[in-house]
Amino acid sequence: MVNEKIAEGDNVLLYLDARRTYMLKIQAGQTFHTHKGYLKLDELIGRDYGEPIKSSLGIYFTTLKPALTDYIMKSSRNTQIIYPKDAALIVMFSGIGPGSRVVESGTGTGSLTTALAHYVGPTGKVYTYELRSEFQKNAAKNLQRSKLIDHVEMKSGDVTQGIEERDVDAVILDLAVPWLVVPHAYEALKPSGILVSFSPTIDQVVRTTEVLKETGFVFIETIECMMRGMQVERGKTRPQTLMTGHTGYITHARKILKLPQQEPTPEPIAEASPGLALEEPLETAEEESKTDQSC
Ligand SMILES: C[S@@+](CC[C@H](N)C(=O)[O-])C[C@H]1O[C@@H](n2cnc3c(N)ncnc32)[C@H](O)[C@@H]1O
Repeated sequence: MVNEKIAEGDNVLLYLDARRTYMLKIQAGQTFHTHKGYLKLDELIGRDYGEPIKSSLGIYFTTLKPALTDYIMKSSRNTQIIYPKDAALIVMFSGIGPGSRVVESGTGTGSLTTALAHYVGPTGKVYTYELRSEFQKNAAKNLQRSKLIDHVEMKSGDVTQGIEERDVDAVILDLAVPWLVVPHAYEALKPSGILVSFSPTIDQVVRTTEVLKETGFVFIETIECMMRGMQVERGKTRPQTLMTGHTGYITHARKILKLPQQEPTPEPIAEASPGLALEEPLETAEEESKTDQSC
């Protein structure tokens, strides 16, 4: 594979160590200042990703090509976001892939939108509903930075009032009242389409699950993903002392088609003579076991 060179306009993840990384856009004539000295961005253009670069104070940084998780973690935030550990499972449970059409709400910071757009592109679409215009504008900037905006249609409005799209592959919810959206999600989804809802509290999960059952969803499951980092060093390898205790619960379910209104079942006509069973079992358990042994 040909090495990709850093070009003007690229986003680069400048890496000092695991705790100190910086996302920057390469613009000719600009300098990037850190507490470890500054870097002239002109000097990065045309160089390989992964190359160490010396700052004005002689400290080495490495230029990395940003991955999806970097765009999520470095997004400009104005809401709580969905972290990569949960986004990964949401994508997996939703069954989406290139070409999928997905409805999402709320957009928030657009972190989950970024992940969804990455997986449905270039032929799929994410329709993301957001109530607050200031959040929507900020999310649009984040999606522009990750160059995924073309796979997203940003929709203003209250998703509890309805979803315009039809026959979508998946509906993904991350908002305070997901149960109010479940009936609209049912209308929007194609048969067997998948709903995934992320909620921080178990009360939200219970209400959502109850409405999912009433509305026409099956295969309903809720999970929680806990991620524990490891410090790895020979002779000292063990779990990190600090971990994120809780982010949220992920509930996923599949839409089924409702049965047509059934005719009332007619009363059985019991004409048989007294003492005679209407139906007799074809085989007793004993006979079944005999049959098995004879095979
Ligand atoms: C927790 S944030 C979503 C964060 C997002 N998943 C992310 O990863 O960046 C919840 C968002 O839902 C929006 N929201 C709440 N109720 C809504 C509704 N009825 N219709 C549309 N958006 C709504 C809020 O304004 C907020 O931006």
